[in-house]
Amino acid sequence: MPNVVITGTQWGDEGKGKIVDSLTSSADVIVRFQGGANAGHTLVVNGRRFVLHLIPSGVCHAGKVCVVGGGVVIDPLELVTEIDQVKGFGYLVNDAELIVSEQAHVILPYHKTIDAARERGLGGKKIGTTGRGIGPCYEDKVARRGIRMCDLVDPDALRARLEDVLPEKNLYLERVLGEKPVDLDAIVEQVREPAQRIKPYVANASRYLAEARRQGKSILFEGAQGSLLDVDHGTYPFVTSSNTVAGNACVGSGIGPTAIDEVIGICKAYTTRVGAGPFPTELEDSVGEALRSRGDEFGATTGRARRCGWFDAVVARHAMRTNGLTGLIITKLDVLSGLDPLKICVGYRIDGNDHVDTVPPTRLLERAEPVYETVPGWTESLSGLNRLDQLPGAARHYLDRLAELVGTEIVMLSLGPKREELIEIRNPFRR
Ligand code: GDP
Ligand code: IMO
Ligand code: MG
Repeated sequence: MPNVVITGTQWGDEGKGKIVDSLTSSADVIVRFQGGANAGHTLVVNGRRFVLHLIPSGVCHAGKVCVVGGGVVIDPLELVTEIDQVKGFGYLVNDAELIVSEQAHVILPYHKTIDAARERGLGGKKIGTTGRGIGPCYEDKVARRGIRMCDLVDPDALRARLEDVLPEKNLYLERVLGEKPVDLDAIVEQVREPAQRIKPYVANASRYLAEARRQGKSILFEGAQGSLLDVDHGTYPFVTSSNTVAGNACVGSGIGPTAIDEVIGICKAYTTRVGAGPFPTELEDSVGEALRSRGDEFGATTGRARRCGWFDAVVARHAMRTNGLTGLIITKLDVLSGLDPLKICVGYRIDGNDHVDTVPPTRLLERAEPVYETVPGWTESLSGLNRLDQLPGAARHYLDRLAELVGTEIVMLSLGPKREELIEIRNPFRR
């Protein structure tokens, strides 16, 4: 059975949660492999809207297994809150439907303190992080001074690890950031209850996935953030602290690259970005405002207004290459109804030179002038449509042009936030 990676192709918030929820009916196991509670994935199921930060967006389907992989950074308090929320909605009735990797790193209160203090220190140059402690936790992981899930659920291991890492952490908090030091006993006490709640879910996720594959099960890998927020391939330093591209689905869940059959990029019909950093097609006018209000473009995690702009084919081509996409799912096409004409960015002009295929380093990207192609819009509402041939001609033309510019096929189309508002052209799970 095919295994499919879903990845964001822009700066996040492309509608990955909605798509993963919709595709879960074709899969058996759904895996988050990177990021943490910086992600906000919105689902609208049976008229109820809710936002998931850590638990995979397949959780609203009984009988499927959701895995939080070893590449995810987990805030234990956030995870427990989310488990309770999901159970409150009547899902996750069977505890065997959630597995949390014992390798995943733990976000502790000092990670959030450091995240916030650094942002304050950067003043006008801040990244605009979500404040969830993501960067400081991944730093500790790479520096080999992190706390992992297997430590969290074992009080002796937790205490021993904290004894090793806190002296340096406290020097940094006090001397560099001017913050209060943290107390080992206080941390142990703070996480004691959440750790015991999470313990039954903690397991070797890599081994579980290998066994699921052996049994012929289909795995859906749910990326968080987007390709331009990737720590290597994004608009550095205005990025998150993990690899968001599809290659990390393997590392972050403990499977080999040969297990992946398809990589599907989720792409908004226009572009948004939340947080600081270059955004060549940003519209700071009434069109940008129209996209924001029609698309309800406010952050699912922080509530911040998202910056909005035209579709950027350079960004999408960059995502095509860095992820090895086998198809695209275009979301929020409905939001463009009534905007006429539409513009598509087909390249950048930087210091008199044309760039079409690659997103250049940030200092150059900050000076990029988008080169636009103008195409006709449409006035018809797209709500309730369920076949491609029902779309207005201009919408079909717009989609064809996007596919041509990105260089891959469109496999699905999302026309609204609800699970069922989806036109399927080719289901990647039915090969
Ligand atoms: P994610 O982080 O990629 O999962 O995306 P978010 O949930 O942060 O943001 C996407 C927003 O768009 C959410 O409010 C979704 O409910 C909504 N959404 C998803 N797909 C569509 C669509 O096709 N049309 C409209 N109008 N809204 C959508
Ligand atoms: P989903 O999964 C949009 C952005 C932040 C900031 C930068 C670094 O919902 O698409 P971090 O807290 O990760 O250190 O912040 O990355 N960012 C996101 N933007 N969607 C997300 O996730 C994001 N996760 C992080 O706004 O610019
Ligand atoms: Mg989001």
